[in-house]
Amino acid sequence: MDTYDIIIVGGGGAGLRAAIAAAESSPKLSIALVSKVYPMRSHTVSAEGGTAAVLRDNDSFDTHAKDTIFGADFLADQDAVEMFINEAPGELIQLEHWGCPWSRDPDGRMSVRAFGGMSVNRTAFAADKTGFHMLHALFQTSLKYESVNRYDECFVTTLLVNDGRVQGITIINIYNGQVEVITGKAVILCTGGGGRVFPFTTNAAIKTGDGMALAYRAGVALKDMEFVQYHPTGLPGTGILITEASRGEGGWLTNKDGYRYLQDYGLGPPTDEPVHRKMELGPRDILSRCHMQELEKGRTFEGPYGHYVHLDLRHLGENKINEKIPFVRELARKYIGIDPVYEPIPVRPVVHYMMGGISTDATTKTTLAGLYAAGETACVSINGANRLGSNSLTECLVFGARAGRSAAEYASAQSSPSSKPLEALARDEQQRLDQQFLRKEGGKERIATIRQEMHKTMEEGVGIYRNEEAMQKTCNTLSQLRERFKDISFDDRSSIFNTEVIAALELDFMLDVAGAIAHSAANRKESRGSHTRTDFPKRDDENFLKHSLAHRTVDGPRIEYSPVTITRWQPEERKY
Ligand code: FUM
Repeated sequence: MDTYDIIIVGGGGAGLRAAIAAAESSPKLSIALVSKVYPMRSHTVSAEGGTAAVLRDNDSFDTHAKDTIFGADFLADQDAVEMFINEAPGELIQLEHWGCPWSRDPDGRMSVRAFGGMSVNRTAFAADKTGFHMLHALFQTSLKYESVNRYDECFVTTLLVNDGRVQGITIINIYNGQVEVITGKAVILCTGGGGRVFPFTTNAAIKTGDGMALAYRAGVALKDMEFVQYHPTGLPGTGILITEASRGEGGWLTNKDGYRYLQDYGLGPPTDEPVHRKMELGPRDILSRCHMQELEKGRTFEGPYGHYVHLDLRHLGENKINEKIPFVRELARKYIGIDPVYEPIPVRPVVHYMMGGISTDATTKTTLAGLYAAGETACVSINGANRLGSNSLTECLVFGARAGRSAAEYASAQSSPSSKPLEALARDEQQRLDQQFLRKEGGKERIATIRQEMHKTMEEGVGIYRNEEAMQKTCNTLSQLRERFKDISFDDRSSIFNTEVIAALELDFMLDVAGAIAHSAANRKESRGSHTRTDFPKRDDENFLKHSLAHRTVDGPRIEYSPVTITRWQPEERKY
């Protein structure tokens, strides 16, 4: 049994930032950083377009706050948004000092670009590999703290809760298949989102909602899970992200008639300005719905991987593409054999981000003593019903740092957990893992089949457009899949790098997350942000200006609600 003061689960942007903040809070604190992959393989590495903060004189905290709250369709907690925005510039400058190679203007200042729903240029970037460079800067910085001990390629199976507080975790060491216990006075979950509950996503295969499920099983509510963001420009077939930066730099979306169709949806008119703040820089929820309406009108292309429109970058010219969005060119050439300098890129909406997650307050604290969460796995909420692109990398930094400091303060005031009750809990967990996964014999259900059926029902019931009948069907199908999951079978009984066992554990978590999404969606009888119901097409502030909270019960999710904090920005109709 290894013992630490703080355990951080997840080695991406939020996890590494939390580790650094905790280590800096006190060199006396011992920290375990546990990740199911090597940290540089965390999904943060694939973030492309940039990270938002007020960095220029033509911008202000109020403008960034207003854009974020408006984009969120008024479901964000406004006090948390203001706090986030105030701390954002300091985090970006801190990252600069840790070696992040931001792109720069000729005068040496960090460059900022346009992004969807942002009323001024405020998205800092490192070409279009921003996440890659940020993660490098964080990872190399984390290496200098001797108090941070890494557990790479270790899968967390449960939180150990005793005496009303979290006191540790159990892991499967993927390298040798051993179940091990790590105790800690505080645990921070930074495991990212769960886009993999859907079939078509920009999310890496590792984004299976593990942290959300861990907290949910430990009795913490999942907040606002119905809000799932589709990014309007993914590559058909693979779902690979073609960054919004390509539109921020001036790219156009055109339908099969070569027409910039967004002007038909209240986002126009197109202008000759190099940066058009509406049109292609409308927010993601609206642009994704416009795509679906073009499909309805028969104005999209049809290809081997379904419907798509064109992202046209040709007018930007080769030099600008190479300088500002070289990765877009690289991805398009490698994955679909198209060079955007000469041809438009086929794109379609793709699941990208979950606004919902583990319910926390602005200090990242959950309702379970000692448990904290930050990054996409958490819901504070600053993103409400629709996140603005480039706020999420900043969210990882601001709330990662907050989580590290909060957990450090808490852990410093706690005595060490006594080992006896934790040993008993760990024995129970070992038994559960043996019976259901590690030594399970027999069974007739295939993991891949259940995963595919989950994907199908999620897309059908809780995709871009939703209605009561389809959502209820999805809720029912998910509970049947949960039953069938008990009968899964394994082909691989080895203990070294058994990826079949990991896939089963991930699917187990995903079924919980999928259930929370579908039930939260079915309960919200209005349309707001990314949650669009054809049977309730209007926003209903009177009844639904509130956060949903999904609680896990034996009979499936129970949905409750909590108030939204409104301070200076009264809800108004969201028009662009
Ligand atoms: O398109 C993008 O580069 C995505 C950015 C984000 O989701 O924040």
